Amino acid sequence: MKLAAAIMVLAVVCVNRGLSRSKSASILGQEAYPLLLSFVKAGGRLGLQECQRQFKNDIWNCTLDKHVIKELPIFVKTTLPYGLTCSDYFTAATRETAFIHAISSAAITHEITQQCKKGKIPGCTCAVIKKPKRASDDWTWGGCSDNVKFGERETKRFIDKLEKGNDARTAFNLHNNEVGRKVVRANLRRECKCHGLSGSCTLKSCWKQLGAFENVGSDLKKIYGAAARVKFVENKLQERITRDLRRAVSAKDKKLVYLDSSPNYCVRNSTVGSPGMLGRICRGDEVSTDKCKSLCNACGLRHQTIQEVKTIKCKCKFVWCCSVQCDECTSKFSVTTCKRY
Ligand SMILES: *[C@@H]1O[C@H](CO)[C@@H](O)[C@H](O)[C@H]1NC(C)=O
Ligand SMILES: *[C@@H]1O[C@H](CO)[C@@H](O)[C@H](O)[C@H]1NC(C)=O
Repeated sequence: MKLAAAIMVLAVVCVNRGLSRSKSASILGQEAYPLLLSFVKAGGRLGLQECQRQFKNDIWNCTLDKHVIKELPIFVKTTLPYGLTCSDYFTAATRETAFIHAISSAAITHEITQQCKKGKIPGCTCAVIKKPKRASDDWTWGGCSDNVKFGERETKRFIDKLEKGNDARTAFNLHNNEVGRKVVRANLRRECKCHGLSGSCTLKSCWKQLGAFENVGSDLKKIYGAAARVKFVENKLQERITRDLRRAVSAKDKKLVYLDSSPNYCVRNSTVGSPGMLGRICRGDEVSTDKCKSLCNACGLRHQTIQEVKTIKCKCKFVWCCSVQCDECTSKFSVTTCKRY
């Protein structure tokens, strides 16, 4: 179990140092370890699914290397969702690797927080929050606020604790993990419910709640676009501001950082885990046909677009009482494939 557990954590965020079962303080006892580990794994899968959804129509589409799996024991192979393991390409600290760190850490935080809310984690309770002094007094905190602090702390305990050392790669991993968690926290929203006579809203109780993980995914994708190249100087990740001025980056800025430039994802390159764009298919019902075409053209490939037809539900009518009846219609859409000139 100990080894399996350690490898599963490695599978979520690629690190190859140290083992888990940290001795650090947690409000939970050791009994909670297998339970939390299952949420860590579920979170890892959620993060990768969201990564693939966000990058579906980009040149890099969050494809992950599989060739290293061959070398792993059979129980790991059968439990790994996508074959995310340590490999040559994964050790490069590119902005893609940064994204995977951030979204995995974010998704694990999200998952643990949601499981806590559902009451699935013994010992984890609703968050206690203070009302801002200047807030109006027609509402109070009530209900159960999402305990993101707990989610963050346990995520750190599982994945950050694997990072030991004082080198560029460790700092890179830790920074991007932290940015992921910060973006989850920034997605907390206040939700309220009215109490009061016959639907009047004289008194409201409110709580803080996480939104859908897709929102975190799209926020992180925007941040990925603005990632900064950094250098590890004087034990800190530093960003170049002007020609002779550097500044240490802080996770508070919610900025992803990278150390290495990305490989060319247009071409097939198994050492970096890139399938290449030749033969890539892009559907016009997901993005515009123009975007599909430019995806091929950006990689020096020709595009071939054909029309396809699908059946969808349409002309839906409400039938008294209480069902909805629809017709079946056909809808045309384009499918673009990248081809050689
Ligand atoms: C694969 O990518 C690596 C890293 O960018 C590069 O050094 C190597 O030349 C590439 N190989 C091919 C066949 O393009
Ligand atoms: C990513 O693109 C490659 C081809 O470029 C394709 O084979 C693969 O299925 C795509 N992956 C996902 C998750 O869409």
